Amino acid sequence: MRKPAMREILLGAGRASANNRRPGGAPRARSFVLAACAAGLALLLFAPAGPANAASAQKPPAQAWSFDGVFGVFDRADLRRGLIVFRQVCSNCHSLNLVAYRHLAGADFSADEIGAIAATVEVSDGPNDQGEMFQRPGRPSDKFKAPFANENAARAANNGAYPPDLSLMIKARKGGANYVYSLLAGYKDPPAGFQLMEGMSYNAYFPGQQIAMAAPLNEGSVDYPDGTKASVEQMAKDVATFLAWTAEPEMEARKRLGLKVLLFLLVLTGMLFALKRMIWSDLH
Ligand code: HEC
Repeated sequence: MRKPAMREILLGAGRASANNRRPGGAPRARSFVLAACAAGLALLLFAPAGPANAASAQKPPAQAWSFDGVFGVFDRADLRRGLIVFRQVCSNCHSLNLVAYRHLAGADFSADEIGAIAATVEVSDGPNDQGEMFQRPGRPSDKFKAPFANENAARAANNGAYPPDLSLMIKARKGGANYVYSLLAGYKDPPAGFQLMEGMSYNAYFPGQQIAMAAPLNEGSVDYPDGTKASVEQMAKDVATFLAWTAEPEMEARKRLGLKVLLFLLVLTGMLFALKRMIWSDLH
C-alpha cells in the first residue's frame, strides 16, 4: 500500500488510496472540514470583542452636550467650570501632558487669566549659569504641571494603579464624553455578593466593574465662582466638556471649515449646472 501524501491526508482520507477507500469516506471527511470551518467562523463572529471582562461594563447613556452636532461648540461656561474641577481635583493624580497653559486662549481665556493660572504652579527649569536646576513660577508656554515625577511615583501613590494622562482620554475611550461622565458620576455601592478587591471601588461603567480610582467627585468638591451648584453630575459634565476640548481643541474650526466647504460645493454645483444648461441650450 502506497503511503498517502500529505496533500491527500489534508484533502480527505477517502482519496488517499483505492485500497482502503471506505464508501462515503470522502464526503464524511469533507463535511468534517466544512463543520470545522463553520465552527471557526461562528467563534470569530460571536466571540466577545476585547477582554472577557469588558463585556460586563454597562453602556454609558448619551448625554446632551453643547458640542454635539454640526453646529455644536464648547459651552464657554462649562469649559471654565471644567478647568476648575480639573485643577482642583483631577490634577492631583492625572497629568495633561499635551496641553500648555497658553492653549487656554483657544477657549477664550484672556492673556492675564492664563498668566495667573500658569503662575500658580512651580516648575523646575535650568540649568542656570552655575549648572544647577532651579524652581520658577509656571509660564503660559509651560505644559500643565504633572502631579508625579514619573510613572513609578504615580503608581506608588495610587496603590499600584497608574492614573493615565487625560489629554486625549475622550478620544481614547469608546463612548467618549458620555463614558467619562458616567464613570465619574456612576460610583455606587457594589451589588450584594460582588467580590470587590482591596483598594478598589465599584463602578458599573468600568470594564470589570471595579476601578482603582476612588470616587474623585463629591457634592461640593469645588466652589464655582459663577454660583452654579457643584453637584457630582454638574462637575462630571463640566470636566468631561473640558476634557473633550483638550482632546480636540480644533473641533470648532474643523466644523466651521466643513460648513464652508459644503456651502462652497453647493454654490459650485449650482454654477456648473447653470453652465451646462448654457452650453447645451443651442442643441435643445
Ligand atoms: C486620587 C487620585 C485620582 C484622582 C483625584 C482622580 N483620578 Fe482618575 N484615575 C486614578 C487612577 C489610579 C486611575 C486608574 C484606574 C484603574 O486603572 O483601575 C484613574 C483612571 C481614570 C480614568 C480612566 C478610566 C479608564 O477607562 O481607563 C479617567 C477617565 C479618569 N481617571 C478621570 C478622572 C477625572 C476626570 C478626575 C477628576 C474629576 C480624576 N480622574 C481624579 C486616580 C485618580
